[in-house]
Amino acid sequence: MQTIELGGVSVPRIGQGTWHMGENTGLRQAEIRALREGLDLGMTLIDTAEMYAEGGAEEIVGQAIRDRRDEVYLVSKVYPHNASAKGVQTACERSLRRLGTDTIDLYLLHWRGQYPLSETVEAFERLREQGKILRWGVSNFDIDDLAELDAPACATNQVLYNPESRGIEYDLLPWQAQQNMPLMAYCPIGQGGALLHDATLQRIADKHSATTAQVALAWALRHPGVIAIPKAVNLEHLKQNAKADTVRLDEDDLAQIDSAYSSPTRKQSLQMV
Ligand SMILES: NC(=O)c1ccc[n+]([C@@H]2O[C@H](COP(=O)([O-])OP(=O)(O)OC[C@H]3O[C@@H](n4cnc5c(N)ncnc54)[C@H](OP(=O)(O)O)[C@@H]3O)[C@@H](O)[C@H]2O)c1
Repeated sequence: MQTIELGGVSVPRIGQGTWHMGENTGLRQAEIRALREGLDLGMTLIDTAEMYAEGGAEEIVGQAIRDRRDEVYLVSKVYPHNASAKGVQTACERSLRRLGTDTIDLYLLHWRGQYPLSETVEAFERLREQGKILRWGVSNFDIDDLAELDAPACATNQVLYNPESRGIEYDLLPWQAQQNMPLMAYCPIGQGGALLHDATLQRIADKHSATTAQVALAWALRHPGVIAIPKAVNLEHLKQNAKADTVRLDEDDLAQIDSAYSSPTRKQSLQMV
């Protein structure tokens, strides 16, 4: 598995998402098993949020990593409506309890809300002093929002990125690369929707004896500063995702994807889901 430096630590470039986990008690065991299988496969970065199943996903993660905390690079996120000085502190403590750990490796502001960024950042710094988080970052921030932050202190920006949603290539992606700030790509396989049935991706997948999901992941990972966090519960999906960094797309493949999904030629407003 390829690795990248994130917040001073080496992490795998393919991690595991957890959105929609914890929503259905009947799926609980399968979700815990999937996360543990993902760890075995080297996808030791786990991305979660207090928002997912209103804490339910963090509980699933807590169960999955109970005896394996040391192997995991744990990312969670605070709701914007909890991003006040007091709110960040209590939200983080709730997340830590659900996750069954003393420390979150990377704590993100899920998207920008009503509280001044300076207040949220101060609260993040206090959590760092207390050892409750090791680093902080943001999600769904465009360049103007990022420019308001102290860029070296912000470990990452997590944004939507896949062939269907590539507006960030115009400015945000190169800006983060220039700042040496890794970009975490969410929904990297288009939430398992139409992208995976696209004829162009299928043709490229066939050529590489790969799957369309692997092609989508390899496409996002062609940028050295990108980390992808696909979510998978199906074990076959997990195995495919963990090997996606071995698929090497050539110029012809990239040109075909450009023809099917054009690269931005002007500034686009940041897309999010
Ligand atoms: N910061 C934010 O605002 C934000 C927003 C959205 C997402 N996220 C994070 O990013 C993660 C990923 O995004 P996402 O979960 O929305 O979408 P995604 O990872 O693009 O797609 C997940 C879907 O694809 C399926 N899948 C996974 N691997 C596959 C494979 N190899 N072949 C075919 N299908 C496959 C999954 O099915 P199975 O589960 O059945 O395997 C699931 O239905 C989230 O889970 C979350 O942690 C963050």
